[in-house]
Amino acid sequence: AAPLRDVVKGQDTFIGAALETRHLQDKQFAETLAREFNQLTPENEMKWSYLQPERGKFTFDKADKLVDFAQKNNMMVRGHALVWHIQNPDWLDNGDFSKEEMLKIMEEHITAVVSHYKGKVKYWDVVNEALDDNGGWRPTIWYKALGEDYIAKAFEFAHKADPDAILVYNDYSTEGKTPKANAAYRLVKKLKEQGVPIHGIGTQAHLVVGVQPRVADIAANIERIQELGLEFHFTEIDIRMQDPATDRMLQQQANMYEDLAKLTAYYDEVNFFTTWGISDKYSWIPHWFKGYDHGLMFDKQYKEKPAYTAVNKVF
Ligand code: XIL
Repeated sequence: AAPLRDVVKGQDTFIGAALETRHLQDKQFAETLAREFNQLTPENEMKWSYLQPERGKFTFDKADKLVDFAQKNNMMVRGHALVWHIQNPDWLDNGDFSKEEMLKIMEEHITAVVSHYKGKVKYWDVVNEALDDNGGWRPTIWYKALGEDYIAKAFEFAHKADPDAILVYNDYSTEGKTPKANAAYRLVKKLKEQGVPIHGIGTQAHLVVGVQPRVADIAANIERIQELGLEFHFTEIDIRMQDPATDRMLQQQANMYEDLAKLTAYYDEVNFFTTWGISDKYSWIPHWFKGYDHGLMFDKQYKEKPAYTAVNKVF
């Protein structure tokens, strides 16, 4: 089959992968990335602890390498993530800042980062995971200091730094029919109504073989987001299973991948199909979900799995 990035040509679809700079030293990784994907997302190196490890000292070198790779290989970059509650530097996590100071710290960071990548990073995950599983506010450092207004502020600062950037709210467990999906919908609707510069919603899609969401529920979410005039992105797809994998589970996984690809192909507003890595050789899953693995489209030897074949056929 032709590489994914070739089969989506002319469809306005980003087929993406997340990575760290160290992965580029693995020749097979770099080759697969450049051959198959037309978009990349830094898996970690645009997070706050990497970009501003000390207050006011920005270190862009690793993230810059990823952006360079993308430019050389004609790929779009998705910036991830400007405001989040983890992978923050100690000075920020442990600092005892007033409300005014926290707002200033947030503004300085977003302004510096978005300006640095202006014209190079077109899409930003501006706020990541602001909601808890019941659809309430997650009590992050930002929420505690600034209340729910921090979200609108983050988008405003990002828009000011790059008026051409496409700005997204990103979260997980928002694919199907969940309290969090409803809360995310209400959140972006409210922001949109308030005139906040928000352009899309990302759903991470860290899914599990054999577990919901139902396709009809994902479609319903896409359609109500579409009605708001916003884009809808699959930003961090992986579909894990218990280790060891069986052929049956790999086939079930392929079917779930196929469903997401079909939704991407069907709806104009769905223009990101980004997987959280390329090969099962490097994946956060075994580190974060004990006993689980095999979430991606390529196995540890970079062999195409049934999921790859299924996705390739859809596009
Ligand atoms: C994960 C990375 O993959 C890990 O390497 C890191 O240790 C923790 O973060 N949601 C997100 C991503 O938005 O940033 C997370 O990435 C996975 C869950």
